[in-house]
Amino acid sequence: MTERRDDRGRQRGAARSDGRVRRSAQAPASRARSGDPARGAAFDVLREVAASDAYANLVLPPLLTRRRIVGRDAAFATELTYGTLRLRGRYDAILDLVVDRGTANLDPAVLDALRLGTHQLLGMRVPAHAAVSQTVALTRDRVGAGPAQLVNAVLRRVAEHPVDDWLNRAQDAAGDDVNARLAVRWSHPAWVVRALREALVGHGRSADELEDLLAADDEAPRVTLVARPGMVDADELMEQVGAGASRGALAQTAVVLPGGAPAQLPAVQTGQAGVQDEGSQLVALLLAHAPLDGPDARWLDLCAGPGGKTALLGAVAAGRGAQVRATEVQQHRTDLVVQAVRALPEGTVDVGTADGRQVGEHSPEAYDRVLVDAPCTGLGALRRRPESRWRRLPTDLAPLGALQRDLVASAFRAVRVGGIVGYVTCSPHLAETLSVVLDATRAAARAGITVEVVHPSGALAALGVDPGDLVTPAGAIQLWPHLHGTDAMSLTLLRRTA
Ligand SMILES: C[S@@+](CC[C@H](N)C(=O)[O-])C[C@H]1O[C@@H](n2cnc3c(N)ncnc32)[C@H](O)[C@@H]1O
Repeated sequence: MTERRDDRGRQRGAARSDGRVRRSAQAPASRARSGDPARGAAFDVLREVAASDAYANLVLPPLLTRRRIVGRDAAFATELTYGTLRLRGRYDAILDLVVDRGTANLDPAVLDALRLGTHQLLGMRVPAHAAVSQTVALTRDRVGAGPAQLVNAVLRRVAEHPVDDWLNRAQDAAGDDVNARLAVRWSHPAWVVRALREALVGHGRSADELEDLLAADDEAPRVTLVARPGMVDADELMEQVGAGASRGALAQTAVVLPGGAPAQLPAVQTGQAGVQDEGSQLVALLLAHAPLDGPDARWLDLCAGPGGKTALLGAVAAGRGAQVRATEVQQHRTDLVVQAVRALPEGTVDVGTADGRQVGEHSPEAYDRVLVDAPCTGLGALRRRPESRWRRLPTDLAPLGALQRDLVASAFRAVRVGGIVGYVTCSPHLAETLSVVLDATRAAARAGITVEVVHPSGALAALGVDPGDLVTPAGAIQLWPHLHGTDAMSLTLLRRTA
């Protein structure tokens, strides 16, 4: 088809679009003009995510509140926003088949409108006439009349075929490379597809699972709560949640919600419970329950912000008379840790802002258990952060790897002989898991500190969790969204032996 692009219209459109984004951050949009608050909210969040590197899960909820979008409209806006962000790569590949000069040449605001419309047509059960007409009206309102004509023509073409036909054509256009084809179908950057394939194999699974893993990344994750031990019982929390709640399959502390928005629950408001992926709960609990000889009173959480694992470790520590020191390098995230542990008994957790790389030097052999929940690419939590797969780059791995190695080295110094370090990432990438453990262990040996990998069977037994398919050939824990319904958390337990 021929694009009808009006340069004056485009410039006006772009300017209006920017204005809308700014206004959306301050005041409710005029419902009378847009006529469709849910789609308007989704569009404004996409624009803000693109324009200011914002996180959709931080921008959308307050925007919905400000505009008083609730109930089914809020659910529609949420699915539209997150689904469009996750499946952006898939939709761009499809739109490239329709837009003559390709999506790369489109005004970014127009491209976002097209992605929103395409998600309604191919990813949601929105009737085609509503998806097209409402998205065209939105474009006219937010961008301009000229772009609205383009959006109308493109979306009508998209509506002519079901999603599978489009995916087959987009895959054919991607060529023969298997990773490029999967990248289009499952909307991941090709380098991430490659890395996840290597991660599955490297952690002892089969590359045949790759499509299941990629598909799981494209699903909205279940909301899971943690019932912090000694503060609220998981059964009590289930009662607060009400019908549809279920217990987690792995962590005894986990309660799975039937829907979203748990902020109003009494236990969440007091801090006795919180929102936390079940995999995150399990790895923190495994560190806390790993068998340990000797004293067990001083625990360290080296990279604590925003404090989900600190609060869980703190709750377990309080029950055992142990104390937790929590450090975080960014002050605003330290504040979040303080907030996360507010329900714990006074004196259980001591929170401070510090560079974790220095802690080992300043507090040698001071701790019995140390958690290193290292900054990482987050490739195991793509379901949860819908835009992150498009932001991460392979070049992120080298600096993160250096930081991860330094933090583990610091933990090895900070833990006493006989004590346990838990190295955790929410990424299964081999460069962030196996390689870091191997390199950090060797580097420590050169500095006179020896450590050994502790098989997690003892910790799993202490928690009553069946090792099943959780343990890798290297003796680490590796969780997967497609197998366990959790983020792809990775945990290696290491004991300092000298
Ligand atoms: C994966 S997050 C930790 C999540 C946290 N454990 C939780 O469960 O809520 C990694 C954290 O490490 C922090 N960080 C990055 N570099 C650090 C450093 N040099 N020392 C301490 N913390 C650091 C980041 O700011 C981030 O908050």
